[in-house]
Amino acid sequence: MKPSIFPRPTEIAHEWLRHVIEPGDRVIDATLGNGHDALFLAQCVGERGKVFGFDVQEQALRSATDHLRSRGISDEVYEWHLVSHARLGEWVTVPVKAVMFNLGYLPGADHGLITTAEETLAALLAAAELIVPGGMLTVVCYPGHEGGEREALAVKEWAIAQGACWHVVHYEKLATQQAAPELIAMQKKEVRS
Ligand SMILES: C[S@@+](CC[C@H](N)C(=O)[O-])C[C@H]1O[C@@H](n2cnc3c(N)ncnc32)[C@H](O)[C@@H]1O
Repeated sequence: MKPSIFPRPTEIAHEWLRHVIEPGDRVIDATLGNGHDALFLAQCVGERGKVFGFDVQEQALRSATDHLRSRGISDEVYEWHLVSHARLGEWVTVPVKAVMFNLGYLPGADHGLITTAEETLAALLAAAELIVPGGMLTVVCYPGHEGGEREALAVKEWAIAQGACWHVVHYEKLATQQAAPELIAMQKKEVRS
């Protein structure tokens, strides 16, 4: 069977983020993992920009560093923190253009070590404070694993409640055999003067 023409949620997130991130911007990867999203962000912000990254596993930080170095990204462009994204506001105090979340577990590592609804919501609150008007927040949720459905629901409820100040979009494949990953993307509204 040919693959469908519909992009995966992570691909859509990158596509939309490309519209708002500019060279020199500061951005956050709230779930570093193996560094695929961080590489994308580093390429968007370029040598004058900065990618702040968070993960709770040392293995993820090492893997992300290797990935970015192997693609020629200068160490000056990124700054990793081995701490829960729930505390990102303690480490990043400057405004940022975008924050990415790719929830769940680290592929190839302990599948029991996953993001949780409580920490994710705390991180979303902190991230939303830091994002400038016109900036974006993207969250890829995985309702297929234990706890993932509750987490995805919590993210969607939170996102819907932000409708006064954010444009909120939801992308999900329907009629799949297993619960498919979902993207919640939000752009902070710009106040007209
Ligand atoms: C699906 S992976 C991320 C994929 C990654 N963005 C990439 O491009 O390779 C999810 C990551 O979230 C991390 N994680 C779990 N709980 C976390 C927390 N409280 N704060 C930050 N990262 C967390 C896991 O260790 C895992 O590496």
